[in-house]
Amino acid sequence: MEIRVFKQEDFEEVLTLWERCDLLRPWNDPELDIERKLNHDPELFLVAEVSGVVAGTVMGGYDGHRGSAYYLGVHPEYRGRGIANALMNRLEKKLIARGCPKIQLMVRAENDAVISMYEKLDYEVVESISLGKRLIVDQEY
Ligand SMILES: CC(C)(COP(=O)(O)OP(=O)(O)OC[C@H]1O[C@@H](n2cnc3c(N)ncnc32)[C@H](O)[C@@H]1OP(=O)(O)O)[C@@H](O)C(=O)NCCC(=O)NCCS
Repeated sequence: MEIRVFKQEDFEEVLTLWERCDLLRPWNDPELDIERKLNHDPELFLVAEVSGVVAGTVMGGYDGHRGSAYYLGVHPEYRGRGIANALMNRLEKKLIARGCPKIQLMVRAENDAVISMYEKLDYEVVESISLGKRLIVDQEY
């Protein structure tokens, strides 16, 4: 398995992977999400490649204060082999190298499996309410 930076050729495979991982949301346009990421710290958009196949992704970020991780997903056929673990580890190393002191991420409250996965990776649940405001509407839903 190789963890590497996303390449343009991965585009279609990544979209299919996100669909398989149920990471698509009607209010997000995944193609635009990728395009925006490629214009903003693209080195933090990581894929896990196994035998030429994109088996996992994480889209990291750093805003100068906190690091973030979105679109963590591993293809169902490749789960349970430490791929998510490896993606998060690499992202954390890259964030530390940039001087980022803390990573924060959002998980839907009902996603117990992912919360326990993150706890195994030493993430702590922080009680807070997450607020959001859409600034650009990508698609109506
Ligand atoms: C969550 C997900 C990324 C895990 O990928 P994975 O490659 O199977 O995870 P790993 O094999 O690296 O596991 C990492 C750790 O979490 C644990 N873990 C993984 N899936 C778990 C689950 N469903 N329940 C409990 N623990 C789990 C593993 O046991 C492992 O711990 P260990 O190192 O002590 O063995 C994958 O199941 C997925 O893509 N899910 C759908 C998309 C999703 O919900 N993404 C998160 C959005 S916030």
